[in-house]
Amino acid sequence: MAAMATFRALVLHEEGGKVVPRIEAVDEDRLPPGEVTVAVECSTLNYKDGMIVQGIGRLVRSYPHVPGIDFAGTVERSESPEFVPGDAVILTGWRVGETQWGGYAEKARVKASYLVRRPESLSARQAMAIGTAGLTAMLAVIALERDGLHPGDVLVTGAAGGLGSVAVALLSKLGYRVVASTGRAELRDYLSGLGAAEIIDRQALAAKPSRPLDSERWAGAVDAVGGTTLVTILTQLKYRASVAACGLAGGSELPATVIPFLLRGVSLLGIDSVMCPREERIEAWRRLANDLPLDRLERMTRTVPLSALPELAQEILKGGVRGRVIVDVAA
Ligand SMILES: NC(=O)c1ccc[n+]([C@@H]2O[C@H](COP(=O)([O-])OP(=O)(O)OC[C@H]3O[C@@H](n4cnc5c(N)ncnc54)[C@H](OP(=O)(O)O)[C@@H]3O)[C@@H](O)[C@H]2O)c1
Repeated sequence: MAAMATFRALVLHEEGGKVVPRIEAVDEDRLPPGEVTVAVECSTLNYKDGMIVQGIGRLVRSYPHVPGIDFAGTVERSESPEFVPGDAVILTGWRVGETQWGGYAEKARVKASYLVRRPESLSARQAMAIGTAGLTAMLAVIALERDGLHPGDVLVTGAAGGLGSVAVALLSKLGYRVVASTGRAELRDYLSGLGAAEIIDRQALAAKPSRPLDSERWAGAVDAVGGTTLVTILTQLKYRASVAACGLAGGSELPATVIPFLLRGVSLLGIDSVMCPREERIEAWRRLANDLPLDRLERMTRTVPLSALPELAQEILKGGVRGRVIVDVAA
């Protein structure tokens, strides 16, 4: 009898009320149902991956579980006419890695409609250097552009994180004057290298504003922080400018007034990468392939093995990871 094929994965177990990660050889027949089986080349680390690996937020309902909300790889088997073996594909979101097994593994199986083709100019590594964080930064920039983003100072908060780093690199390449807000003054040179023209301390935006309107400052903003930082941004947007609300690294409350909407006509644009329609993802990946300088992407990225994830999951939730992390699933 032929031996059962196995693949290597980071598997989360629930033991004594705690989530425990272990690297294991998993039988292929345990992959979830789906039309396309992908040989995964690499995955990545996002803030949500940190929550899942740490067992925070009840994002995973059933264990044992293979986490990893993103992956890039090559189609191995396909029951869908859309894909054939050998196709280079990317998966982000759709709650893969949460409600079904994800990309911290050498193999994954998903619905064909969840996959997008990898742009030819991007390698699997580069696609995962971008990942959900970078795709979300691109969706935010597209949303700002659609809402009439004018030249001027564009603010990026949580700038040294994954989403923030990609937003800084993209917006500066597109010709905006990027103001990067960070809590890590020691990463000043890193942020300048990505294209930030000015760096401000995140404390300058963190306190709840005492007035409903402040001086008009931002032509637009990409916010990864939320909470009172987002409230402050609303009070400082220029007339009819917009902020793309992407994250909650600083809090999920929004103790704001409606005054900036009524007196300055500003817009609060919600950004969701998880259930975002496929056509919009394809357009965002096309834009990333065109507009994101690959030398800057390289500068913000490092590669780690699966075994590094438990520690990095803690680090990212503390805001301690710089830029983007590629996960080599074979290492
Ligand atoms: N809407 C979506 O579809 C979507 C998709 C991806 C991510 N997100 C969200 O976007 C955020 C960023 O994700 P990411 O993967 O880029 O995470 P990340 O790499 O950890 O970046 C978050 C950054 O926020 C800053 N930060 C951390 N804690 C903070 C605090 N208490 N107060 C103020 N700033 C703080 C830090 O930047 P500095 O050190 O530079 O200050 C940190 O690097 C997360 O909240 C994530 O859930 C949303």
